[in-house]
Amino acid sequence: MIQSQKNFRPGVALGAIVMAFFFSDGCGGGNGSAVPAIPSALRATAVSCSEIDLGWIDSSDNEVGFKIERKKSGGDYILVNNILANEESYQDKGLDCENTYYYRVLAFNGAGDSEYSNDVSSATYPCSQMESQESSQLIAGPFLFGVTKDSATITWQTDRKGRVVVEYGSTESYGKQAYGQSNRVTLGTNDFYVNTVSVGGLEPRTWTHYRIVSLNRRSQDFSFRTAPAPGDEYRFLVYGDSRPAQPVSLAAPDDSVHQAILSKMKERNPDFVINAGDLVEAGPDPAEWVHFFSILSFFPSDIPYYPVLGNHDQGGESIISGFFGTPPDVYYSFDYGDSHFTIINSYLDFSPQSVQYRWLAQDLSDAKQREGITRLFAFMHAPAYCSAPEHTDDQEVRNAKDYLAPLFTDQGVRMVFQGHVHVYERTEAINGVVYIVAGGGGAPLHDAGPLNTQSWTAYKESANHFVEINLWADHITLEARYKDGTVFDNANYY
Ligand SMILES: [Fe+2]
Repeated sequence: MIQSQKNFRPGVALGAIVMAFFFSDGCGGGNGSAVPAIPSALRATAVSCSEIDLGWIDSSDNEVGFKIERKKSGGDYILVNNILANEESYQDKGLDCENTYYYRVLAFNGAGDSEYSNDVSSATYPCSQMESQESSQLIAGPFLFGVTKDSATITWQTDRKGRVVVEYGSTESYGKQAYGQSNRVTLGTNDFYVNTVSVGGLEPRTWTHYRIVSLNRRSQDFSFRTAPAPGDEYRFLVYGDSRPAQPVSLAAPDDSVHQAILSKMKERNPDFVINAGDLVEAGPDPAEWVHFFSILSFFPSDIPYYPVLGNHDQGGESIISGFFGTPPDVYYSFDYGDSHFTIINSYLDFSPQSVQYRWLAQDLSDAKQREGITRLFAFMHAPAYCSAPEHTDDQEVRNAKDYLAPLFTDQGVRMVFQGHVHVYERTEAINGVVYIVAGGGGAPLHDAGPLNTQSWTAYKESANHFVEINLWADHITLEARYKDGTVFDNANYY
């Protein structure tokens, strides 16, 4: 779904990544007889050269409204506005550029005024930015990251800094607010802002509704479902190498396979998806990512999508971390249900003395000792085990086998999902670990080679596909599916 904003001015290449937001305004009401409680946690954020946005927590249930007061340095507070009960934000517009303003808020009703909230201040943007600040509204997202049984992180992207607020709750009435941060990211000549908010205190396996408050607007309703408690069944999907055959700068990309796979994956209604790397053909080119997200925008926004860095994605780390919410070096992990998922960067040093290797060893060791975690899964682009002839001499492939495979065995990893070679392959357990190559996501297929090349190969095929994993209390089922959804390989693990 691609939606252009009113007044949107496509000034940068990333401006094409615009989707999914439909804005509306909201308000509420209430009253009572005792003096209301003091509004708390007042915060002020300049969003342009002429506007500062306020947010606070409504701590009372009997106010008639709130009074907003403002002053400049050295001046006296003046009343700016009275606003309705239950509001927790205010946009103060028409300010002078490059000025610091101070604010305080109180709640009132027929019994009187509350004490003032805390004082806060913020400075409007420099006057030189006046023209560019007021002209465009670029928004992309939202993307879900790190969805656990009681929390999630939501990211979205804008071309200027603004409020970073998510309203959320169990219904579309929301009722809770969470505040986050906005960080500037640069790719090539493009700058954009990544807005990140974490919401917590949720119940396992429940839907949360949310909407984003950004650039003075509220988004449409979105939702996500928290992870199950350990022991409950769930499903995830893996595919990789979904990139087009050629850079988008050279040829009109053919994404028919990727689109077909996304369509079938959507039908399988997974709890989340992991892409095993090579999302794009040429990572440093912003146009590649514009294209990738235009394809991904047809996939439901309530299904978390976790990226693995592939060799073709290198140079686009800022986009991956900025849009998906991963750490900058794109190695990370999360718990889901009874399992722990660890994503490794094949293109950052993972030799035994490296920072990443030591993190990985600690991450796996910690996870298996965590209460409720009984299964470990690892994901990386360069395969430790693949019997197809392509890429067998890659340094990362040899290092994965020499450095990482022994660690996976030592730590009791159940399955390792890989990409890079554009085939499907499932091994028997090798030193206790099953290795899957899931590289048939859309890039030109490779030759799988003879079936009996290696004794540990259980099955392999050169085919476009994705892999479905269902986790039950006492076993795991694997189904490899063609791009039309048909199962062509399956296995059970107890
Ligand atoms: Fe690759």
